[in-house]
Amino acid sequence: MNKVMHTPEGVRDITPSELARKLEIENRLLDVMKDAGFLLMQTPSIEYFDVFADNIGLTPSRELYKFHDKEGNTLVLRPDFTPAMARAFSKLYFDENAPVGLCYLGNTFVNGNDLNGRLKESTQIGAELYNDGSVEADASMISLVVKCMKSAGFDDFVVSVGNGNFFKGLFEQLGIDGTMEQTLRELISAGNYYKTRELLSEAGVSEDMTELIVHISDTYNTAGSLSELKKRVFCDKCTEALDRLIDITDILEKESLDKYISIDLGLLNKYNYYTGVLFRAYTLGFGDAVMKGGRYDNLVREFGKDTPAIGFGISLDELLIALDTREKHDDTYGDYLTFALTKGRLADKTLALLEKTGITCEQMKDKDTRKLIFVNEDLKLKFFLAKGPDVPTYVEHGVADIGVVGKDTIDEENRKILEVLDLGFGKCRMCVCGPESAKKLLNTRDMIKIATKYPRIARTYFNDVKHQSVDIIKLNGSIELAPIVGLSDCIVDIVETGSTLRENGLVVLEEICDLTARMVVNPVSMRLHSKRINSIMEKLKEEL
Ligand code: PRP
Repeated sequence: MNKVMHTPEGVRDITPSELARKLEIENRLLDVMKDAGFLLMQTPSIEYFDVFADNIGLTPSRELYKFHDKEGNTLVLRPDFTPAMARAFSKLYFDENAPVGLCYLGNTFVNGNDLNGRLKESTQIGAELYNDGSVEADASMISLVVKCMKSAGFDDFVVSVGNGNFFKGLFEQLGIDGTMEQTLRELISAGNYYKTRELLSEAGVSEDMTELIVHISDTYNTAGSLSELKKRVFCDKCTEALDRLIDITDILEKESLDKYISIDLGLLNKYNYYTGVLFRAYTLGFGDAVMKGGRYDNLVREFGKDTPAIGFGISLDELLIALDTREKHDDTYGDYLTFALTKGRLADKTLALLEKTGITCEQMKDKDTRKLIFVNEDLKLKFFLAKGPDVPTYVEHGVADIGVVGKDTIDEENRKILEVLDLGFGKCRMCVCGPESAKKLLNTRDMIKIATKYPRIARTYFNDVKHQSVDIIKLNGSIELAPIVGLSDCIVDIVETGSTLRENGLVVLEEICDLTARMVVNPVSMRLHSKRINSIMEKLKEEL
């Protein structure tokens, strides 16, 4: 066979020079862990499905690589290490009660979405400390994260530290539980301030408390501010969680590591195994945390031994991307904030609004230019224009810090970005439209054909809200054509003035939601440039 073979989507060959670099960083990180007393061990790549089942693992079941052995057991390729290490620790150290530190290195496998720039096989290094539930253990693991970041070669990074027990207590105090609690945890940790506000008001939470929750990450981010926060919450669990964070920062301050630490109570996990302190290391050059960890006192118990544990994992491939980005740019890289704006009408309106706040970019006013990136050197700002659906992608990957894009695109793209401000312009509605005669179809349980540029929004509306089966046909524009020529029964599309519908004999049959332009922010940028971004947000709010 003389066919040139490429690798499957999401996995890749590593060239000798790349590998040399990867091994060098791997060794440096393992040395830091070994110096701190952690013993290197290995677990197998294949585990029973139960080790990573939904109630234990961090990876949704549909993203696991699953297969069967000859006896019919369901096996998986490990998607992460923590549950596998907990299983191994429980078996190997069952009778040991003194603290044990173990570290690991190996590949993990996640069958995530295609074409999103994320690897399906990646290398992870991590450390886990068992049999020690003390605050000193929490501080020692955070200190180890700082040492790992430094030894990998980063000097500008932040380790955000939160405590999941704070919100556990607060939700108890507010009488919020079940699905509502789960949804709020996801919204708060995703920084979706609008939906958080809506849901809290639905739950009858006072305006005062709602504002406290929505601004928890930017207002209470130092040990000093936590003492203030203690005066505003009245439950033992919340106070204990805050005291624990204050004690951790005291210890880190004595080691002169506090300058790398930022408290973030909005740091919450979607899944259940973390039980207390949580931490993540962020740096410029990568749009997500490069090290993630926390305390998980209930996990080892799932495998037989009831003992506290705390640990963290480092995605080596992501860390290398961050290092590469850092090396490609000069020292001024972190000085700039980059905006990704949606081409067309939204960009014009955004620039007009920014101009009112004193943010200008003269270069962009030249309508004939073919330039793609524009810089305002005085304000240290960069701007680029992109197609709407690409704006959330640029922001998620951290190559743009801030984006301005329609709410329709945010919902459709479903990226890990913070939606921070409703800019009020670009008003329109997401609707189900079609000929008047199609209305009766919407009240039946019959299969109907929907053409749309927004398959995710259409599917969520019909399946989850209306519980109706639909056949969705993805189109890229002039959606109104589909029912006219008989490709579909209805469409799901944006209606602004309604003139396209009128001129083509179509009507709005159902309204899905109102839409406006929103400002979105990369979660890492929000942490590393919080002062600058918050000041831009404040100025914009004054103009709205
Ligand atoms: C949008 C939308 C509708 C139209 C609605 O299309 O998809 O077709 O605007 O606006 P109206 O209610 O004011 O008539 P767009 O112009 O973005 O182009 P497209 O049809 O290629 O998607």
